[in-house]
Amino acid sequence: MTEDMVLPAQHNPVTVGEPLLEVSGLTKYFPVKGGFPIRRTIGHVQAVDGIDLTVRVGESFGLVGESGCGKSTTGRLITRLLEPTNGSISYRGQDISHASRRELAPVRSEIQMIFQDPYSSLNPRQTVGKIISGPMEINGIEPDGGREKRVRELLEIVGLNPEHYNRFPHEFSGGQRQRIGVARALALEPKLIVADEPVSALDVSIQAQVVNLLQEVQRELGIAFLFIAHDLAVVRHFSQRVAVMYLGKIIEVGDREAIYTRPRHPYTHALLSAVPEVSLTDDGDSAGRERIRLAGDVPSPISPPSGCRFRTRCWKAQDKCATEEPPLVQISGNHAGHLTACHFPEDPTTEARDEDIVLDPALAALEEEG
Ligand SMILES: Nc1ncnc2c1ncn2[C@@H]1O[C@H](COP(=O)(O)OP(=O)(O)OP(=O)(O)O)[C@@H](O)[C@H]1O
Ligand code: SF4
Ligand SMILES: [Mg+2]
Repeated sequence: MTEDMVLPAQHNPVTVGEPLLEVSGLTKYFPVKGGFPIRRTIGHVQAVDGIDLTVRVGESFGLVGESGCGKSTTGRLITRLLEPTNGSISYRGQDISHASRRELAPVRSEIQMIFQDPYSSLNPRQTVGKIISGPMEINGIEPDGGREKRVRELLEIVGLNPEHYNRFPHEFSGGQRQRIGVARALALEPKLIVADEPVSALDVSIQAQVVNLLQEVQRELGIAFLFIAHDLAVVRHFSQRVAVMYLGKIIEVGDREAIYTRPRHPYTHALLSAVPEVSLTDDGDSAGRERIRLAGDVPSPISPPSGCRFRTRCWKAQDKCATEEPPLVQISGNHAGHLTACHFPEDPTTEARDEDIVLDPALAALEEEG
């Protein structure tokens, strides 16, 4: 990325480190229909259940958790593709939780989304030029020198050949398509990008390149990111702060250092030990790491366990865990900003344990046989 390609200064500058997006008590319940002959609402999927988070100007915030824990729903609520059931979303001090289409218009261009699947998220019948200039067209934005010039600049910023302006998505590889998605997200000079598993559909060999591009964009253009991933390996090099989600709740949040070296929640420990270091990491030394394997599946978000939602899979669960929901707070021993929702937290270390903790009895039995 060359210097003259840096996006022009924003009209209403906000200072790095200030809160950009503040989410409080955010909740999304999807109705579950059933019954015959009259279909009624018979329950709710508690996809996101009262989460708080703050993304600061220019910061990269990682949101991590297993499949189905509510990460995409959170991203879609923030970008207002979904209407929240409860709670508030405030962007630069303005409450946008239930803002109308018209009220949202100026904010919409500042918050953009990059999707997981670079195949389905690009219209196959449109040229790359048309796709990338789409957001400018919709918002009636005519950059200096015209839209085509701007698209060529954007193509160059994301590492694609500006001459490929007239090509169609199928002429590009998966990694290149995701670069097109990034260019489209950059077209309106956003201040916040919600990237929903932007590399998990890509070949491992090209994941790092796309992560590097996003990192460059984040740093050089000062764009804040909410980076969604299902494991901790990808966000490790990308996010200054990380929140871990489980069944619709944030169970631990802190700066990168705290989450990776001093995790307190058993689930964060499990995620850290279950995830193999992937090629994205250059300092991945997993030798001597404790190994915890999680038993069973994530319970249904239609009727989550009482008290602590992780208790059905937790090796430290006691009676209190079933009756009292642990609040997300700064527990004793944590530094400021490191919050954990657990009654019986782990020690703040990832030191090797002598034994392998195997939480799945079937797996343990198999290993004994073998
Ligand atoms: N439109 C919808 N209607 C009903 N249920 C939904 C809807 N969208 C999501 N859900 C449910 O809400 C829960 C959270 O889904 P969500 O897609 O947010 O999870 P996720 O963490 O992004 O998972 P993944 O890692 O698989 O992408 C899941 O149980 C899902 O089935
Ligand atoms: S509150 Fe109890 S069940 Fe939940 S994570 Fe902590 S120890 Fe485990
Ligand atoms: Mg998802």
